[in-house]
Amino acid sequence: MSDTFLEVRGASKAFVGVQALDGVDLAVGSGQIHALLGENGAGKSTLIKILTGVHQPDAGTVRLRGVPVAFRTPRDAISAGIGAVHQERNLITRFSIAENITLESPPSWLGLFDADAAARATRRWLNLLALEIDPATPVARLSVAQMQLVEIAKALSLESRILVLDEPTSSLTPHETARLFAVLRRLAGDGVGILFVSHKLEEVFDLCSHVTVLRDGRNACGSRPLAGMTRADVVRLMIGREEASFTAPPAPARAAAPALELRSVSTTFGHCDLSLRAYAGEVLGLYGLVGAGRSELARAVIGVAGITAGEVLIDGRPAAIRNVTQAVRRFGLGYVSEDRKGEGLILQHSVAANIAATVWHRLRRVLGFVSDAMQAATAAPFVRALDIRTPSLAQRAGNLSGGNQQKVSVAKWLVAGSRILFIDEPTVGIDIRSKADLHDLVLRLARQGTAVIVISSDMPELVALSDRIAVMKGFRIVDTFDNTRDYGQASQRIMHAIHG
Ligand SMILES: Nc1ncnc2c1ncn2[C@@H]1O[C@H](COP(=O)(O)OP(=O)(O)OP(=O)(O)O)[C@@H](O)[C@H]1O
Ligand SMILES: [Mg+2]
Repeated sequence: MSDTFLEVRGASKAFVGVQALDGVDLAVGSGQIHALLGENGAGKSTLIKILTGVHQPDAGTVRLRGVPVAFRTPRDAISAGIGAVHQERNLITRFSIAENITLESPPSWLGLFDADAAARATRRWLNLLALEIDPATPVARLSVAQMQLVEIAKALSLESRILVLDEPTSSLTPHETARLFAVLRRLAGDGVGILFVSHKLEEVFDLCSHVTVLRDGRNACGSRPLAGMTRADVVRLMIGREEASFTAPPAPARAAAPALELRSVSTTFGHCDLSLRAYAGEVLGLYGLVGAGRSELARAVIGVAGITAGEVLIDGRPAAIRNVTQAVRRFGLGYVSEDRKGEGLILQHSVAANIAATVWHRLRRVLGFVSDAMQAATAAPFVRALDIRTPSLAQRAGNLSGGNQQKVSVAKWLVAGSRILFIDEPTVGIDIRSKADLHDLVLRLARQGTAVIVISSDMPELVALSDRIAVMKGFRIVDTFDNTRDYGQASQRIMHAIHG
């Protein structure tokens, strides 16, 4: 094809114990927005890392406009016109936004870093994404979504001919996503070829014209036009069978006292006079737009921030939670953080050690030591239940694919046997088959007697999963209702609560 801009043929890559890619083909035309799909661990990020000089392939060729290229470093790929947003974060958090964005080619004046020029250049890219924030702000102060937008701005600023985006929207709101898509469409209109990875199929159908699906490191389909393909077609290619439908088991009778009750609680985060009840046996969904104060509420309850007024009751009794350790050990609280990349995992530790981390103290108290075998025995059932793809329990968590790392951080809290569990954005970055498994697991956990509080910006997910839904806006709860799992009804009520 004459307009094929980027072509990969027969790419293979093995890591210890894993054949991540096995003879993969890909062709992206200029001006094309091309989806790269597949389950967690299918090889998407590995392929992208070959295209961007992070990894060298064991076999296969990469051609740009028909000319074979071999990138030894990420810089080689950038100079050849390939820009990328990687799945893991690559920002230097103690640097400012401007310093991060201009890192590859810092503007200088008489040999000195020209901060004004950097700020000007940066502001242009931030404006494009509607990120209204001072370029001098240190990245450490940004929210997860803002960091993601800065990563995207950084890639855009390279003005590459090929733009590779590995799950760029995982932490973005629908609004931010729409804004990004407008920018991508404009770039494609100018002839830029775009390779786009996402587990959100609605996005893929909205944005992309072509698709390549990987399964277990091989092509489940080559570069194909999306037109004429249905969601079911794509799912079949990804998982090799039909998508399972999901029905929630009925909620048990409600206990007299809520497992967790907040009475007129105020926090140092800015919640004021907030009341909430969560019962054992049920899933309470906490819906809200980004910035509504949901994660902050969870963090306040588990002792990260101060509760300045009101009462927290556990099983009907007032509980003074002073810090996270006490929250976890004494009151049985757990929190699967939204920021899994930042605080969820110790990447250099093994999968088993990460999953068993929350029960170490318990094992150690009884036996005085924790062996690898004990960690493995604790972790193994959860690796199976969540279908965590890893060559062994001893694998470093950092070597797992992004989605599998997320599953590890969820497993860790499931192991802890928390009686009251906050799960923040449970399925961000998780493929659709695992999503269904995880929903199943969360509901089973609840039905076995845990009070589960799910924070999610994914409305369909929240409606499918929750027995009750509380809607948050501006650090307050504006509505709470029993959820019949009718999407039309629930979404209308939620939108009404938020927008009046
Ligand atoms: N540096 C590494 N060392 C060892 N194994 C690795 C390494 N990087 C990736 N793998 C393995 O290669 C396989 C493919 O991983 P990859 O990250 O490409 O998947 P992915 O399709 O991007 O998945 P996800 O949707 O979860 O991001 C996985 O089994 C993963 O564990
Ligand atoms: Mg990946």
